[in-house]
Amino acid sequence: MEGVPALRGRRPPGRGRDPSPLPAFRRSLVRWFRRSGRDLPWRSTRDPYRILVAEFLLQQTRVDQARPFYHRFLARFPDLPSLARAREGSVLKAWEGAGYYARARHLRDLARTVVRVYGGTLPHRVEQLRELPGVGEYTARALAAIAFRRPVLAVDANVERVLARVLYPSALDEPEAEDLLGRADPRAFNEGLMELGQRICTPRNPRCPRCPVRKICGAYRTLPSPGSIPRRGPKAVRPRVSAAVGVVARDGRLLLQRRPSGGLLGGLWEFPGGKIEPGETPAQAVRREFAEETGLVVRVLRPLGVVEHDYSHFHVSLHVFALGLRSGGRLRKGPYRWVKPAALGRLALPAATRRMLPLALPMVSPPPDRRTRGAG
Ligand code: ADE
Repeated sequence: MEGVPALRGRRPPGRGRDPSPLPAFRRSLVRWFRRSGRDLPWRSTRDPYRILVAEFLLQQTRVDQARPFYHRFLARFPDLPSLARAREGSVLKAWEGAGYYARARHLRDLARTVVRVYGGTLPHRVEQLRELPGVGEYTARALAAIAFRRPVLAVDANVERVLARVLYPSALDEPEAEDLLGRADPRAFNEGLMELGQRICTPRNPRCPRCPVRKICGAYRTLPSPGSIPRRGPKAVRPRVSAAVGVVARDGRLLLQRRPSGGLLGGLWEFPGGKIEPGETPAQAVRREFAEETGLVVRVLRPLGVVEHDYSHFHVSLHVFALGLRSGGRLRKGPYRWVKPAALGRLALPAATRRMLPLALPMVSPPPDRRTRGAG
C-alpha cells in the first residue's frame, strides 16, 4: 500500500509522477539501521528463544539496562527445554534485579506450554504467539517479525511516536500499519523503527539533523518543533506510601516470608511487614503486622534505618526495625523460612529487601569488633 495519507501526494515540485516516499523511507531506515544500529546481544542471534528472552526483558526494562540480565538468564537457562524444566524459585532467582517478576513466571509458563503444545518449537504466527503466557499484541508482533521475519509491524509507545511524527499530520491507523513495511526486511525495519525512537526520535528534543528519514518526515517538514508531536499530558505524580518491616533473628537465621505468586514481586522473599495505617507509628505498624500475619508476638529492639525505594507507580519509604521475639506467639504455617545468611544468595529477593541486608545482617553475624570484645 502506497496510500498512507500523510505520505500520499507529496509531490516534489516539477515532477510529473507522484512517487510515494514510502520506498525511500524503508530504504533509508533499513540502511541506517544496518550501518548505525547498536550491536545488542539479541541482534546477533537467530535463535528464537534468545530473541524471546530479550523481548520479555525489553517489555519493561530499558535496552541499556537489559544486557546483564539477558546474559545471566541465558547462562542459567540456555534453551527452552531447560526453562520448561526449571522450578519457579530458580527462574525468579535468575531474573533477580530485573524487576516485574511476572515476566519471569510467564516466561517459564510459556516454555512449558510450547513444550506441551508445540513440541518445544515456538510457533511463528502472531495469532499463535499472542495466545502464549505473557505475550501481548506487541510482543507477539515483535517476535513474529524479529525471530521469524513475518511481515508485521510491532508498535509500542516508541514506534507510535516515530510514526506520529513521520506521518504527520495524518495518524497511523491499524489496517495500514503493515503496509508501511512493504517488502522491507521485517526484522531490520522493526528494529530500525525501535532504534530510531530510542536514539534519534526521542520524546523530548529529537535529534532531527541526524535523522535518516527527516526528508520525508511530516513533522520535520512542517512544524517549527517536531518534538511537540504527539502531545503529552501532564506527568503523573508518583504516590508515596510508608511501610514498616521487621527483622527477627533466631539461632543465627533471619525470618523471611514469600510473597504470594500473583501480584507485585510475586514469589520473592522479603522481611515480613506491611503498610503503616493512618494514625499509626512505624513501630506500632510492625508489631501489628507481625501479629496479624505471622502470629508471632514481637517487641521493637531498635530502628535500623529507612530504605527509600521507587517502583514504577509509587514510591515507598520502608522503616526497618530489629525485633525480639516474645513468648506467647507461634509462627503460623505459611510461606515462612528461617534463613541462614549464607543461604540468602540462593533466594530471589526484591531489590529493596537486598538493600536492607546491610542493616539486617549484623543481627546474625555481629561485626568483628563485637565478636572479639571480651574474648581476651
Ligand atoms: N524494544 C523492544 N524490543 C526491542 C528490540 N528487539 N530491540 C530494541 N529495543 C526493543
